[in-house]
Amino acid sequence: MSRPNIRTCRVLIAAQAGFRYNVAVSIHRESFRAKFLPNMSLMNNPAGFRPAERTTNYNYAIRNIVAAAKAVEAAGQPVTYLNIGDPVLYGFQPPGSLVEALARAVRDGDNGYAPSVGTLAAREAIVRDAERRGVYLTPEDVVVSSGASEAADMLLSALLEPGDDVLTPCPTYPLYTAITAKLGARENYYRLDPAQGWQPDPDDIRAKITPRTRAMVIINPNNPCGAVYDARLLLELLTIAEEHNLVVIADEVYCRLTYGPPPPPLAQLAAGMDVPVVTLESLSKSHLVPGWRVGWMTYTNTHRFGDVIAAVRKIAEARICSPLPTQQVLPAALADQSHLPALIEALQLRAAITVEALNAVPGLHCVAPQAAFYVMGQVEDLHGQTDEEFVLALLRATGILFVHGSGFGLDPNAGYFRIVFLPPPETLRDVYARLASFLRQS
Ligand SMILES: Cc1ncc(COP(=O)(O)O)c(C=O)c1O
Repeated sequence: MSRPNIRTCRVLIAAQAGFRYNVAVSIHRESFRAKFLPNMSLMNNPAGFRPAERTTNYNYAIRNIVAAAKAVEAAGQPVTYLNIGDPVLYGFQPPGSLVEALARAVRDGDNGYAPSVGTLAAREAIVRDAERRGVYLTPEDVVVSSGASEAADMLLSALLEPGDDVLTPCPTYPLYTAITAKLGARENYYRLDPAQGWQPDPDDIRAKITPRTRAMVIINPNNPCGAVYDARLLLELLTIAEEHNLVVIADEVYCRLTYGPPPPPLAQLAAGMDVPVVTLESLSKSHLVPGWRVGWMTYTNTHRFGDVIAAVRKIAEARICSPLPTQQVLPAALADQSHLPALIEALQLRAAITVEALNAVPGLHCVAPQAAFYVMGQVEDLHGQTDEEFVLALLRATGILFVHGSGFGLDPNAGYFRIVFLPPPETLRDVYARLASFLRQS
């Protein structure tokens, strides 16, 4: 038998010492528990920690449904993902000049922290862009964020107490569901009417207002329906908010992606009214860079916000900043938007293919979208299934992934599902042919 060398001996001694130390610590821990926490044992928490109550209703159907798609893929069936509004996944790429500007920012050393509300250059660029659309701001009215999502989160965190409610469109974009659930607040759905092209009904909104209603979310152009609201309707919604002392959250992340003339920004219509408006925007979709996480919010009628603007600032400071390199791209991105006409043309073509294909199938309908890249389809007969069961059955049979309408707050028995129509025309045509054949057989 060979004798252990000195190094091996040292390792063995250290290991024994470590073992003795661990045993001593656990004996000490147990005797501490026995002495001071007699009703607890190490076995009390075998499954680890219990998540906080506020996460119970924290859902995001658009991503949650992916688990089912992965299982289908693992079983050998390829999946066509039409669930997520990420143009880059479907072959769209940002303008080369933006990629260059980002690379330059990183190369030039713009890799540190930014001011919490965003760099002055970025905020000035946002002010200039708003001015071109008839909205007059100062850089102090702007907070740069990691996408519009973070802006919504900071704003609602600064505004809502548990038990408050927020007027939110139904179908909604589930970001608002997730944030209100996290804050212990309540989503207060107002109806978008498919029979009226998914427009909101001001009377329904008035009827839904409670003493705890603090804000009204208006998503225009709309995700998930692709609807666009005109100035007359927007003014009516602003008037309701003014009468009931509500903060208006104008989610306008798709404002550059309308197929026809864009609607007026809510902030423009609200000038001269006595209603606080927060506009949310980002480069994610319009500039094809959702992964860069660059967005912003702007305040209109700041005199109506009380201390909420200061509270948002505190939250912004605590989270430090949004990424500096992508903020550095904002001035160039907002000054040159020459890529937009070709992008809109591509979207319009896909929308036309989608609407024609869906409405040609007996028992299937959709309302033609006027912007962005989403449509709500509806099957007349779910054969006793919920919309989620329908979507899962379609996925398992065909490998096509949509998101069920109830993931956006719709009635699970109403037969709705959202399609992201970003893939190339030939993929879309194939998807709709497979959908039609699935419906014929079911
Ligand atoms: C209506 C709407 N608002 C906000 C967002 C968030 O976008 P981002 O955080 O990427 O700016 C999205 C993203 O899909 C959206 O559809």
